[in-house]
Amino acid sequence: MQSEYSSLFDLALEACEHSYAPYSKFRVGAALLCEDGSVITGVNVENRSYGLTICAERNAIAAAITAGKKKFKALVIATPDADYPVSPCGACRQVISEFMPPSAPVVFGNSQNSYMTSSVGELLPHDALHELAGELGE
Ligand code: THU
Repeated sequence: MQSEYSSLFDLALEACEHSYAPYSKFRVGAALLCEDGSVITGVNVENRSYGLTICAERNAIAAAITAGKKKFKALVIATPDADYPVSPCGACRQVISEFMPPSAPVVFGNSQNSYMTSSVGELLPHDALHELAGELGE
């Protein structure tokens, strides 16, 4: 993995220790690099009412917003229980795009040797809010 994402991946992987996934047994950790250089992590938190599960990425974003961070440079997601890189779900893509620009990198992998590098814009193309913001010159 590219060195700039390698330490973020390690943090996301470490966070998996706190994942609450008794139903799927599928741990996910996310590490969000904030504009000020700090890193905020999140894990998936499942519920016996399955649909109430919250993904790791969304929890990382919520924790960062709670900590007063609003701008993010990169998101790295670790899925150590998968055999292949697992990309964010549709709901997470929408939430990610609320807070990160289309150009922001999103890296997801099951290990440092098995990962993909994408971007917010690739994961959620034609995002009306960003396009409108762009047109307005924001
Ligand atoms: N999950 C995440 O936390 N992030 C992803 O990107 C993929 C899926 C969680 C939700 C659920 O707890 C488990 O992984 C299985 O879907």
